[in-house]
Amino acid sequence: MKNIINVAQLAKRFGTTDVLNGIDLTIQEGEVFGFIGHNGAGKSTFINMLTGIINKSSGSFEIIGTSDQQLDDVKAKIGVMPDISNLYDHMKGIQFLRYMGKLAGDTRTKQDYIALMKDIGLEGAEKKKIKAYSFGMKKKISIAQALLGNPSLIILDEPTSGLDPESAINIRKLIVDLQQQGKTILLTSHNLDEIDKISDRVGILSDGKVKKLGTPDELKNNTSSELSVAIRTNPTLTSQKLAELSANWDFNVQFVTTKKKYVVVNVPHDNDIAKLSKELIHSGFQLFELRMEQQSLEDVFINSK
Ligand SMILES: Nc1ncnc2c1ncn2[C@@H]1O[C@H](COP(=O)(O)OP(=O)(O)OP(=O)(O)O)[C@@H](O)[C@H]1O
Ligand SMILES: [Mg+2]
Repeated sequence: MKNIINVAQLAKRFGTTDVLNGIDLTIQEGEVFGFIGHNGAGKSTFINMLTGIINKSSGSFEIIGTSDQQLDDVKAKIGVMPDISNLYDHMKGIQFLRYMGKLAGDTRTKQDYIALMKDIGLEGAEKKKIKAYSFGMKKKISIAQALLGNPSLIILDEPTSGLDPESAINIRKLIVDLQQQGKTILLTSHNLDEIDKISDRVGILSDGKVKKLGTPDELKNNTSSELSVAIRTNPTLTSQKLAELSANWDFNVQFVTTKKKYVVVNVPHDNDIAKLSKELIHSGFQLFELRMEQQSLEDVFINSK
């Protein structure tokens, strides 16, 4: 597969503060790449360098086969929704999109613009001035703006933050549709379930570096070599009872946490799960449920610092 973004040792320093300390990253054509990291980690800084909004301090990158020195040559092929929107407030929604579309060489008809507004969830707001839009509506029109001019690479900095759940679902569907049309999408989000659902690969940014990189499943499976098991019994198993019982068992079982009526434990091997269920029943517990707990991307994120 072709790389659409190729970043080598990219760094950014603001004054005396190193925000990005040498990012190495490739993003492949046609993938949805989710970039995550805590507030202030440098995600927007990274995106702003890639799109030419700010200058790099050192390192280099290539986008769509073009070096960062010639970024202007490919800007028309990149659709961007930056973290801080650059909307013309005094314009009506549809007027703004048509104006920006013209600048981006978009060939849409007026009807197509109306359809775009509908797709993005702004039906009925076409003739309303942007300054009268709510936060979420402004967000949606910024996303629509990023799609103008048929870009092959779409970069969305927190596209769903502040959107109501239904609108966020629609934006996720839109992202999947865009990918099916062959586009590459780089997005950031603090909603890790969302990143998990729609990203082919995820990068975790921390301390100015890409600390972890992989498919959501790779990241979730690699965090721990132990197997996590959630158990629901009657009476409910406590950490204390587990400690008492397990003192006599010939395998290791480690208490992790209690979640509602479940207790979550770690065991080293598959066959320990069979032993565990046998021992619990033997000790008089009614075993209602025993299931493998997969790490969430949130667990991976918390453990990546
Ligand atoms: N123009 C600037 N001048 C000085 N410092 C800046 C500037 N822009 C960003 N920073 C600093 O760079 C760091 C990274 O900011 P950035 O906006 O890239 O983080 P982020 O990962 O996008 O965070 P968030 O999740 O909150 O959007 C922060 O410490 C921020 O204060
Ligand atoms: Mg940001």
